[in-house]
Amino acid sequence: MNIKWDAKKYTQDFSFVSRYGTDLTELIDTKGKPTVLDLGCGNGALTHKLTEEGMPALGMDASADLLQIAREKHPGLTFLEGDATNFTLPEPVDVVFSNAVFHWIGREKQPDLLECVYRSLKPNGQFIFEFGGHGNNALIHSALKVEFEKRGLVYHFPFYFPTIGEYSSLLEQAGFKVTYAVLFDRMTELKGKNGLTDWIQMFVKTPFGNLPETVHEEIIMEAVKKLRSKLFYDGKWHADYVRIRMKAVRE
Ligand code: BEZ
Repeated sequence: MNIKWDAKKYTQDFSFVSRYGTDLTELIDTKGKPTVLDLGCGNGALTHKLTEEGMPALGMDASADLLQIAREKHPGLTFLEGDATNFTLPEPVDVVFSNAVFHWIGREKQPDLLECVYRSLKPNGQFIFEFGGHGNNALIHSALKVEFEKRGLVYHFPFYFPTIGEYSSLLEQAGFKVTYAVLFDRMTELKGKNGLTDWIQMFVKTPFGNLPETVHEEIIMEAVKKLRSKLFYDGKWHADYVRIRMKAVRE
């Protein structure tokens, strides 16, 4: 993963990330109270929801800071520190669930992720996930790219946003049968009068590398100014999210 989280700010100002994942749990076949791994559980909001829905769930995340918040908020639950592309569970589970995580993992590491998920599932286990799909935040990234290029800089795109076709193929190669797939737009309201600036500062870090702070701020300011006509309406900033949501079964 290419990000060091500001765990408290993430929990306070970007709670929509887990809120939008709540209806994803409806794709789980809950017969027999399946055990669930919430992969990339962050602050544990969805691990808690899965447990409340009657499924014994444990969370895993690579961020010690987010796990500390998860453990403080949900002391009765188990949270493990682990890398989604290199982990082994003590016992396989019935379901691997993941919301808003896989776009942080580069294309080259996706087969490792899928192999870990496959090994962590019981036969016929369910794999249910959502993350940024093809075209996610396209307006925001193209505005940033324009500002980089105007200054003679290269915008290194930091995310993996696949199509359904591409991701289905990876799943099949890893031994899964795809049973459900959708790609859909979800314009997402952001919090506060600097909502888009805050969003970019929180989530788009690596392309800025070691650029001087003044250049960093100027690029964001110019991009946000240009995006206002498209992403500021009804008195609020929005981010142009596109989600890929899938269910697959371990064959
Ligand atoms: C997403 O959830 O799609 C996402 C969030 C932040 C950065 C990139 C993608």
